[in-house]
Amino acid sequence: MNKDGTKISFLLNKIDIDKLPKHVAIIMDGNGRWAKKRLLPRTAGHREGVERVKEIVEATGNLGIPYLTLYAFSTENWGRPKEEIDTLMKLLVEYLKKELNTLHMNNVRINILGNLDKLPALPREEVKNAIEKTKNNDKMNLNIALNYGGRNEIIDGIKSLISDVRVGDVILDEIDEELFRNYLFTKDQPDPDLLIRPSGEKRVSNFLLYQIAYTEFVFSDVYWPEFTTEELYKSLIEYQSRKRRFGGI
Ligand code: FPP
Repeated sequence: MNKDGTKISFLLNKIDIDKLPKHVAIIMDGNGRWAKKRLLPRTAGHREGVERVKEIVEATGNLGIPYLTLYAFSTENWGRPKEEIDTLMKLLVEYLKKELNTLHMNNVRINILGNLDKLPALPREEVKNAIEKTKNNDKMNLNIALNYGGRNEIIDGIKSLISDVRVGDVILDEIDEELFRNYLFTKDQPDPDLLIRPSGEKRVSNFLLYQIAYTEFVFSDVYWPEFTTEELYKSLIEYQSRKRRFGGI
Protein backbone atom coordinates (compact mmCIF):
# COMPACT_ATOMS: atom_id res chain seq x y z
CA MET A 1 0.00 0.00 0.00
CA ASN A 2 1.29 3.51 -0.74
CA LYS A 3 1.96 6.17 1.93
CA ASP A 4 -1.45 7.88 1.47
CA GLY A 5 -3.28 4.56 1.61
CA THR A 6 -1.55 3.69 4.89
CA LYS A 7 -2.36 7.10 6.39
CA ILE A 8 -6.00 6.94 5.32
CA SER A 9 -6.57 3.49 6.82
CA PHE A 10 -4.75 4.61 9.99
CA LEU A 11 -7.20 7.55 10.27
CA LEU A 12 -10.21 5.39 9.41
CA ASN A 13 -9.24 2.99 12.20
CA LYS A 14 -9.35 5.87 14.68
CA ILE A 15 -13.01 6.64 13.84
CA ASP A 16 -15.60 5.06 16.13
CA ILE A 17 -18.23 3.86 13.64
CA ASP A 18 -20.85 3.71 16.42
CA LYS A 19 -20.41 7.40 17.27
CA LEU A 20 -20.58 8.99 13.86
CA PRO A 21 -22.54 12.19 13.42
CA LYS A 22 -25.92 11.68 11.74
CA HIS A 23 -25.71 15.01 9.97
CA VAL A 24 -22.56 16.71 8.68
CA ALA A 25 -22.77 20.21 7.20
CA ILE A 26 -19.91 21.78 5.26
CA ILE A 27 -19.19 25.38 4.23
CA MET A 28 -17.11 24.73 1.11
CA ASP A 29 -14.75 27.70 1.34
CA GLY A 30 -11.43 28.66 -0.21
CA ASN A 31 -11.86 27.77 -3.89
CA GLY A 32 -10.78 31.25 -4.98
CA ARG A 33 -7.69 31.33 -2.74
CA TRP A 34 -6.69 27.82 -3.85
CA ALA A 35 -6.75 29.01 -7.45
CA LYS A 36 -4.95 32.29 -6.70
CA LYS A 37 -2.12 30.42 -4.99
CA ARG A 38 -1.64 28.52 -8.26
CA LEU A 39 -2.02 31.63 -10.47
CA LEU A 40 -5.22 30.12 -11.93
CA PRO A 41 -8.60 31.82 -12.48
CA ARG A 42 -11.03 31.52 -9.53
CA THR A 43 -13.26 29.30 -11.66
CA ALA A 44 -10.48 26.66 -11.71
CA GLY A 45 -10.83 26.54 -7.94
CA HIS A 46 -14.57 25.92 -8.21
CA ARG A 47 -13.93 23.19 -10.78
CA GLU A 48 -11.49 21.42 -8.44
CA GLY A 49 -14.03 22.02 -5.66
CA VAL A 50 -16.53 19.87 -7.53
CA GLU A 51 -14.01 17.00 -7.46
CA ARG A 52 -14.02 17.23 -3.66
CA VAL A 53 -17.84 17.31 -3.67
CA LYS A 54 -17.80 13.95 -5.46
CA GLU A 55 -15.13 12.56 -3.13
CA ILE A 56 -16.74 13.73 0.12
CA VAL A 57 -20.26 12.60 -0.88
CA GLU A 58 -18.82 9.15 -1.58
CA ALA A 59 -16.75 9.01 1.61
CA THR A 60 -19.68 10.18 3.75
CA GLY A 61 -21.99 7.65 2.10
CA ASN A 62 -19.46 4.83 2.60
CA LEU A 63 -19.33 5.62 6.31
CA GLY A 64 -23.13 5.43 6.46
CA ILE A 65 -23.65 9.05 7.56
CA PRO A 66 -27.28 9.65 6.55
CA TYR A 67 -27.31 13.46 6.11
CA LEU A 68 -24.75 15.65 4.34
CA THR A 69 -25.39 19.35 3.71
CA LEU A 70 -23.12 21.30 1.36
CA TYR A 71 -23.20 25.10 1.11
CA ALA A 72 -22.88 25.59 -2.66
CA PHE A 73 -24.30 29.09 -3.25
CA SER A 74 -25.46 31.69 -0.75
CA THR A 75 -28.00 34.48 -1.25
CA GLU A 76 -24.99 36.82 -0.93
CA ASN A 77 -23.11 35.06 -3.76
CA TRP A 78 -25.32 36.83 -6.36
CA GLY A 79 -23.05 39.83 -5.75
CA ARG A 80 -20.09 38.05 -7.44
CA PRO A 81 -19.04 38.82 -11.04
CA LYS A 82 -21.51 37.41 -13.61
CA GLU A 83 -18.84 35.17 -15.15
CA GLU A 84 -18.19 33.48 -11.80
CA ILE A 85 -21.92 33.02 -11.12
CA ASP A 86 -22.38 31.53 -14.59
CA THR A 87 -19.51 29.09 -13.98
CA LEU A 88 -20.92 28.01 -10.61
CA MET A 89 -24.34 27.36 -12.19
CA LYS A 90 -22.69 25.50 -15.10
CA LEU A 91 -20.69 23.34 -12.68
CA LEU A 92 -23.85 22.48 -10.76
CA VAL A 93 -25.62 21.44 -13.97
CA GLU A 94 -22.59 19.38 -15.07
CA TYR A 95 -22.37 17.75 -11.65
CA LEU A 96 -26.02 16.73 -11.69
CA LYS A 97 -25.89 15.55 -15.30
CA LYS A 98 -22.81 13.39 -14.61
CA GLU A 99 -23.55 12.15 -11.11
CA LEU A 100 -27.33 11.85 -10.87
CA ASN A 101 -27.52 8.22 -12.03
CA THR A 102 -24.74 7.13 -9.67
CA LEU A 103 -26.33 9.01 -6.77
CA HIS A 104 -29.70 7.48 -7.57
CA MET A 105 -28.24 3.95 -7.84
CA ASN A 106 -26.63 4.50 -4.44
CA ASN A 107 -30.03 5.37 -2.96
CA VAL A 108 -29.12 9.02 -2.33
CA ARG A 109 -31.93 11.54 -2.06
CA ILE A 110 -31.14 15.05 -3.27
CA ASN A 111 -32.75 17.96 -1.45
CA ILE A 112 -32.23 21.63 -2.08
CA LEU A 113 -32.09 24.13 0.77
CA GLY A 114 -32.94 27.50 -0.72
CA ASN A 115 -35.40 29.22 -2.96
CA LEU A 116 -35.17 27.85 -6.50
CA ASP A 117 -37.22 30.63 -8.11
CA LYS A 118 -34.25 32.94 -8.52
CA LEU A 119 -32.07 30.35 -10.30
CA PRO A 120 -31.59 30.54 -14.07
CA ALA A 121 -33.91 28.16 -15.98
CA LEU A 122 -31.34 25.44 -16.81
CA PRO A 123 -30.00 24.80 -13.27
CA ARG A 124 -33.54 25.15 -11.91
CA GLU A 125 -34.87 22.42 -14.22
CA GLU A 126 -31.85 20.18 -13.62
CA VAL A 127 -32.26 20.52 -9.86
CA LYS A 128 -36.01 19.87 -10.00
CA ASN A 129 -35.39 16.76 -12.07
CA ALA A 130 -32.81 15.52 -9.51
CA ILE A 131 -35.21 16.12 -6.61
CA GLU A 132 -38.04 14.30 -8.39
CA LYS A 133 -35.91 11.35 -9.52
CA THR A 134 -34.42 10.71 -6.08
CA LYS A 135 -37.39 11.58 -3.88
CA ASN A 136 -38.00 7.98 -2.70
CA ASN A 137 -34.35 7.20 -1.90
CA ASP A 138 -33.58 6.66 1.75
CA LYS A 139 -29.96 5.65 2.36
CA MET A 140 -28.49 9.11 2.41
CA ASN A 141 -29.76 12.67 2.09
CA LEU A 142 -27.58 15.06 0.14
CA ASN A 143 -28.73 18.60 0.88
CA ILE A 144 -27.34 21.20 -1.49
CA ALA A 145 -27.76 24.71 -0.11
CA LEU A 146 -28.38 26.85 -3.18
CA ASN A 147 -29.47 30.47 -3.15
CA TYR A 148 -29.57 29.82 0.59
CA GLY A 149 -29.44 32.28 3.47
CA GLY A 150 -30.16 31.35 7.08
CA ARG A 151 -31.88 34.60 8.07
CA ASN A 152 -34.01 34.44 4.95
CA GLU A 153 -35.01 30.87 5.74
CA ILE A 154 -36.17 31.93 9.21
CA ILE A 155 -38.06 34.98 7.93
CA ASP A 156 -39.80 32.96 5.19
CA GLY A 157 -40.66 30.36 7.83
CA ILE A 158 -42.18 33.02 10.06
CA LYS A 159 -44.26 34.33 7.15
CA SER A 160 -45.68 30.87 6.36
CA LEU A 161 -46.32 30.25 10.04
CA ILE A 162 -48.22 33.52 10.36
CA SER A 163 -50.38 32.66 7.38
CA ASP A 164 -51.11 29.22 8.89
CA VAL A 165 -52.13 30.94 12.15
CA ARG A 166 -54.35 33.34 10.20
CA VAL A 167 -56.28 30.54 8.49
CA GLY A 168 -56.51 28.62 11.77
CA ASP A 169 -54.21 25.70 10.83
CA VAL A 170 -51.94 26.56 13.78
CA ILE A 171 -52.93 27.95 17.17
CA LEU A 172 -50.60 30.62 18.58
CA ASP A 173 -50.08 28.76 21.86
CA GLU A 174 -49.03 25.60 20.00
CA ILE A 175 -45.97 27.29 18.50
CA ASP A 176 -42.73 25.95 19.92
CA GLU A 177 -39.22 25.10 18.72
CA GLU A 178 -40.29 21.72 17.36
CA LEU A 179 -43.29 23.06 15.47
CA PHE A 180 -41.21 25.81 13.89
CA ARG A 181 -38.83 23.21 12.41
CA ASN A 182 -41.62 22.31 9.98
CA TYR A 183 -41.20 25.73 8.38
CA LEU A 184 -37.53 25.25 7.54
CA PHE A 185 -35.94 23.61 4.47
CA THR A 186 -34.54 20.91 6.80
CA LYS A 187 -38.02 19.86 7.96
CA ASP A 188 -37.97 16.20 9.12
CA GLN A 189 -34.18 16.15 9.31
CA PRO A 190 -31.96 16.04 12.40
CA ASP A 191 -29.91 19.16 13.16
CA PRO A 192 -26.27 18.99 12.04
CA ASP A 193 -24.08 17.35 14.69
CA LEU A 194 -20.96 18.63 12.98
CA LEU A 195 -20.28 21.75 10.92
CA ILE A 196 -16.99 21.80 9.02
CA ARG A 197 -15.48 24.95 7.55
CA PRO A 198 -12.23 24.63 5.64
CA SER A 199 -9.96 27.48 4.45
CA GLY A 200 -9.02 28.88 7.86
CA GLU A 201 -12.07 31.17 8.18
CA LYS A 202 -13.97 30.88 11.44
CA ARG A 203 -17.41 32.25 10.63
CA VAL A 204 -20.90 30.84 10.21
CA SER A 205 -21.77 33.08 7.21
CA ASN A 206 -25.55 32.87 7.50
CA PHE A 207 -25.57 29.05 7.31
CA LEU A 208 -28.31 26.99 9.01
CA LEU A 209 -28.71 29.57 11.79
CA TYR A 210 -31.69 27.90 13.45
CA GLN A 211 -30.33 24.36 13.09
CA ILE A 212 -26.81 24.82 14.52
CA ALA A 213 -27.80 25.69 18.11
CA TYR A 214 -25.87 22.68 19.51
CA THR A 215 -23.67 21.79 16.54
CA GLU A 216 -19.95 21.10 17.02
CA PHE A 217 -17.72 23.22 14.76
CA VAL A 218 -14.51 21.93 13.23
CA PHE A 219 -12.32 24.36 11.30
CA SER A 220 -9.68 23.16 8.88
CA ASP A 221 -6.85 25.22 7.42
CA VAL A 222 -6.86 23.56 4.01
CA TYR A 223 -8.84 25.10 1.15
CA TRP A 224 -11.95 23.23 -0.04
CA PRO A 225 -10.24 21.92 -3.24
CA GLU A 226 -7.72 20.23 -0.88
CA PHE A 227 -10.36 18.85 1.48
CA THR A 228 -9.89 15.15 0.71
CA THR A 229 -11.31 12.07 2.44
CA GLU A 230 -8.30 12.26 4.76
CA GLU A 231 -9.39 15.73 5.93
CA LEU A 232 -12.94 14.47 6.45
CA TYR A 233 -11.63 11.63 8.62
CA LYS A 234 -9.52 14.11 10.66
CA SER A 235 -12.61 16.29 11.21
CA LEU A 236 -14.63 13.26 12.35
CA ILE A 237 -11.87 12.25 14.77
CA GLU A 238 -11.83 15.79 16.22
CA TYR A 239 -15.64 15.73 16.49
CA GLN A 240 -15.49 12.41 18.37
CA SER A 241 -13.02 13.88 20.84
CA ARG A 242 -15.59 16.49 21.95
CA LYS A 243 -17.97 16.07 24.87
CA ARG A 244 -21.45 17.19 23.82
CA ARG A 245 -23.54 18.40 26.71
CA PHE A 246 -26.43 20.19 24.95
CA GLY A 247 -26.54 22.79 27.72
CA GLY A 248 -26.48 20.18 30.50
CA ILE A 249 -23.49 19.37 32.73
C1 FPP B 1 -16.43 29.32 -1.65
O1 FPP B 1 -15.14 29.58 -2.12
C2 FPP B 1 -17.12 28.44 -2.57
C3 FPP B 1 -18.27 28.76 -3.25
C4 FPP B 1 -18.92 30.06 -3.13
C5 FPP B 1 -18.89 27.80 -4.17
C6 FPP B 1 -18.85 26.35 -3.81
C7 FPP B 1 -19.23 25.60 -5.02
C8 FPP B 1 -18.66 24.48 -5.53
C9 FPP B 1 -17.60 23.71 -4.82
C10 FPP B 1 -19.07 23.93 -6.85
C11 FPP B 1 -20.52 23.68 -7.13
C12 FPP B 1 -21.22 22.83 -6.18
C13 FPP B 1 -21.79 21.61 -6.39
C14 FPP B 1 -22.65 21.01 -5.33
C15 FPP B 1 -21.61 20.83 -7.62
P1 FPP B 1 -14.76 31.09 -2.44
O2 FPP B 1 -14.98 31.31 -3.89
O3 FPP B 1 -15.52 32.01 -1.55
O4 FPP B 1 -13.24 31.09 -2.09
P2 FPP B 1 -12.39 32.29 -1.49
O5 FPP B 1 -12.98 32.62 -0.14
O6 FPP B 1 -11.02 31.69 -1.39
O7 FPP B 1 -12.47 33.41 -2.47
